[in-house]
Amino acid sequence: MDQEQQLNGAMRSVSINSNGLATKLNGHNGCKGNDETDNVRVLPAATAATGGSFTIGSDTSKATNAANSATAATANANAIQIQTSAAGASAADKKKMVHELCQQLLLTDEQVQELCYRILHEVRRGLAKDTHPKANVKCFVTYVQDLPNGNERGKFLALDLGGTNFRVLLIHLQENNDFQMESRIYAIPQHIMIGSGRQLFDHIAECLSNFMAEHNVYSERLPLGFTFSFPLRQLGLTKGLLETWTKGFDCAGVVDQDVVQLLKDAIARRGDVQIDVCAILNDTTGTLMSCAWKNHNCKIGLIVGTGSNACYVEKVEEAELFDMPDNHKPHVLINTEWGAFGDNGALDFVRTEFDNDIDSHSINPGKQTFEKMISGMYMGELVRLVLAKMTLNGVLFNGQGSEVLFTRGLFFTKYVSEIEADEPGTFTNCRLVLEELGLSNATDGDCANVRYICECVSKRAAHLVSAGIATLINKMDEPHVTVGVDGSVYRFHPKFHNLMVEKITQLIKPGISFDLMLSEDGSGRGAALVAAVACREDILNSK
Ligand code: BGC
Repeated sequence: MDQEQQLNGAMRSVSINSNGLATKLNGHNGCKGNDETDNVRVLPAATAATGGSFTIGSDTSKATNAANSATAATANANAIQIQTSAAGASAADKKKMVHELCQQLLLTDEQVQELCYRILHEVRRGLAKDTHPKANVKCFVTYVQDLPNGNERGKFLALDLGGTNFRVLLIHLQENNDFQMESRIYAIPQHIMIGSGRQLFDHIAECLSNFMAEHNVYSERLPLGFTFSFPLRQLGLTKGLLETWTKGFDCAGVVDQDVVQLLKDAIARRGDVQIDVCAILNDTTGTLMSCAWKNHNCKIGLIVGTGSNACYVEKVEEAELFDMPDNHKPHVLINTEWGAFGDNGALDFVRTEFDNDIDSHSINPGKQTFEKMISGMYMGELVRLVLAKMTLNGVLFNGQGSEVLFTRGLFFTKYVSEIEADEPGTFTNCRLVLEELGLSNATDGDCANVRYICECVSKRAAHLVSAGIATLINKMDEPHVTVGVDGSVYRFHPKFHNLMVEKITQLIKPGISFDLMLSEDGSGRGAALVAAVACREDILNSK
């Protein structure tokens, strides 16, 4: 594939109707079971040492491969040396060693409770004018004040940027909560993710134009909702300045700029299509709106995917930064941007050596501390770091690792879900994953230990998310709250949902009930709904 094709090449095209049935699939795999974090590599840039003994890189250039082989060899040599301490150990002792090392990943009830206090404190700091500038959890005002009432109708375009892929969608909202949706996924090549802002927005505009041509709306002027899933300091429903990039993006010249203007400029530079940007929103907002369309109790939107974040319905008087003219509406959605919780050290009491490692080799060290302990961009890598350490100590695989195991970013988060999907006592998926990693001589004991490590990492993530959600539910203090949830980790991990239900139940005030509702494409349909609600306002205002 040449570069031009890679840039503009649509990856997949999907049409669905309101039953969620795919009616047209192009390209491999469709959307089924496709973890958006499959190919996410942590850290394009870094090569670094773990435990001081070997170097890990994610660059696949020949030179780096050679270096990796050499360092993997060093690692193996180290392993063989250290092995003497653990190689002769019994399976029971090895299990004990794994459990001991993983102890640091397990959160006690007291720690989780303490986290709730700290998250609430940070949310309050984000909401209050005086403390907002220094708060880590920014609690940005979204300017979305109305949930959908089910009467939204019409044809909308939506852009969805912020996961691994970029999507363009055409959504037709119809009567009786019915909708038609066509979408196409476009790759955002790595060089664009870390290139210039102009390149990124030109690419987006080009994909949009191609999509409009393919879907016969090239010459229509349609309303558009832009799901932009990064921390955005919103100044209105159609104006927002990027606070900082997350999730491996780092395009120059966008921080502090109005991304709606950047999009409009890129479209104007092409001069071919015309659109009306009616709203810019976060994926959490889209998720909440999408669920609220069907379920009016939905008051929280949560994403546990490549990144993690939540938004919720707040009372206007609590949102001190909300500067809307007095329209007497009592509520506004707040985008917490909780991924940055802990950037001031508030999570240090539960962080581990593995979290430090992830952070120091990330593209944004010191930032998104909470997200790095939870989300799909990092979960596989966390597991890999534990596996690598245990292998070097001779506890796993008889001390014999593989090049893949010792290479940063090559243990995909989807492996964690796959391994934990094995029936208890069976290791079918686990062995398949280990084979992909070049580890074909694993014993049953190794497999059980690998699985335990995955369980500790994913359980911790679920408990951290639960602490956040319980804090929001308790703060809202409503009798019943539905939480709309989306994201690859929540969707594909076999136990995440149950782990969350169990922990949130423990943490919420007596008398409050909740449920978790899987969102149907919040980033796409949610964007159309925010745009539709905004249009509804326009129509009312113009009357
Ligand atoms: C971003 C959020 C987003 C979340 C989930 C985080 O990295 O900062 O804006 O909602 O990822 O996609």
